[in-house]
Amino acid sequence: MHDFRYVGKHLFCEGVELAALAEKFGTPFYVYSQNTLTDHFQKLDQALAPLDHLVCFAMKANSNLSVMRVLANLGSGFDVVSSGELQRVIAAGGDPRKCVFAGVAKTEAEIEFALRKGIYSFNVESEPEIVRINRVAGRLKKRAPIAVRVNPNIAADTHAKITTGTYENKFGIQFEQVEAVYARASKLPNIWLRGVQMHIGSQLTHVEPYEQAVTKVTPLVQKLAAKYKLEFFSPGGGLGIVYKTALDSGPRQWWSSPSAKGILTPALYAEKLLPLLQPLGLRILIEPGRFIVGNAGVLVTRVEYVKRTGQKNFVIVDAAMNDLIRPAFYDAFHEIVPLAKKGGARISSDVVGPICESGDYFCKDRPLPRVGEGDYLALLSAGAYGFVMASNYNTRPLIPEILVRGTQFAAARERQKVADIWSGEKVVAWLK
Ligand code: LLP
Repeated sequence: MHDFRYVGKHLFCEGVELAALAEKFGTPFYVYSQNTLTDHFQKLDQALAPLDHLVCFAMKANSNLSVMRVLANLGSGFDVVSSGELQRVIAAGGDPRKCVFAGVAKTEAEIEFALRKGIYSFNVESEPEIVRINRVAGRLKKRAPIAVRVNPNIAADTHAKITTGTYENKFGIQFEQVEAVYARASKLPNIWLRGVQMHIGSQLTHVEPYEQAVTKVTPLVQKLAAKYKLEFFSPGGGLGIVYKTALDSGPRQWWSSPSAKGILTPALYAEKLLPLLQPLGLRILIEPGRFIVGNAGVLVTRVEYVKRTGQKNFVIVDAAMNDLIRPAFYDAFHEIVPLAKKGGARISSDVVGPICESGDYFCKDRPLPRVGEGDYLALLSAGAYGFVMASNYNTRPLIPEILVRGTQFAAARERQKVADIWSGEKVVAWLK
């Protein structure tokens, strides 16, 4: 379920009215529902309950310390892609021993840090990386746990910028080369072959590409597991979410919305994949990001101006592409709703931000209720790849992140102070 709904005419996150948060914290800001985070984590955790398993939250989707603490408290591990992220896990009270380290360009320093912290596994993406990990581990007199990321060459039906499982992409090791890579890696003294991993893309809304990829890879996994006594297999992350939601129906399973027909749910995932995974007899890891946090967060913004031109109704808001880049970058759809529900006719509108770029928009030609200066809007399903992709473009401060639990709320991040934006900069000596 997710916990953003209208009570009367007012949009609430759990028991907190969003307009009250807007008055208290100013706009724009992100707000996250703890209950939704918990529910989505548990849905996946329960779907995998028949197996020995570990959910490693892909923290690139949302790495706020409070969000991570909620998940760590539920037993989550983490998928990290930099030593910065691993340091965040530790800062958030997570367990490095439940972390997998992904990414194509791990540096020596990152490998050393992760080894010292005792991570669960490196998901390796190339043979030179295995050689490097072996060297660093040797220096530290350790054996480094690794899993090769298999690229199964299966096209996931998603946006080109977030598909990863074909030979067009830089990720993983080609399916046909994997056996030979394990054979060579098994000879390296400081490598511990611990598992096999794959990940075919993000925002996968149908189960078929997963099924196809897992079906293709499991015979290989079985063979490798027997030969090298592997412990785990990870089919990765990528479970998609519904971005077009109808808020009117109140708290509910988001996938019960009409636009979710045929969509990948935890139940469907379990139904189709457990029969393929169970016979492996291995521990199963999954690395979801968006599924857990996407629908648990919204971005609240205020209407500054409404500008009508010959052709267009521009709703100019105080949030911008630097706060939420997904529409500009991926043509992503985010539902936009007023915090105070409005009746009356809808008007075709472009919701745009203050930045001097035509790409700075949240929607184009979308029928929206008529709004005016001072009205608040919420961009829904903004909990994943929202704040984490924000920047200081136009010297705009990073915005607050508020966590809600029931009727409680608190800033899980304060609004950045403007002077802090240039705190690491200097006017160099010769200019003084
Ligand atoms: N594992 C690996 C190896 C990944 O590359 C990713 C995401 C995940 C797990 C988590 O995927 P998820 O479960 O969240 O789909 N910024 C883009 C999404 C980029 C995804 C990158 N990799 C967006 O806003 O849609």
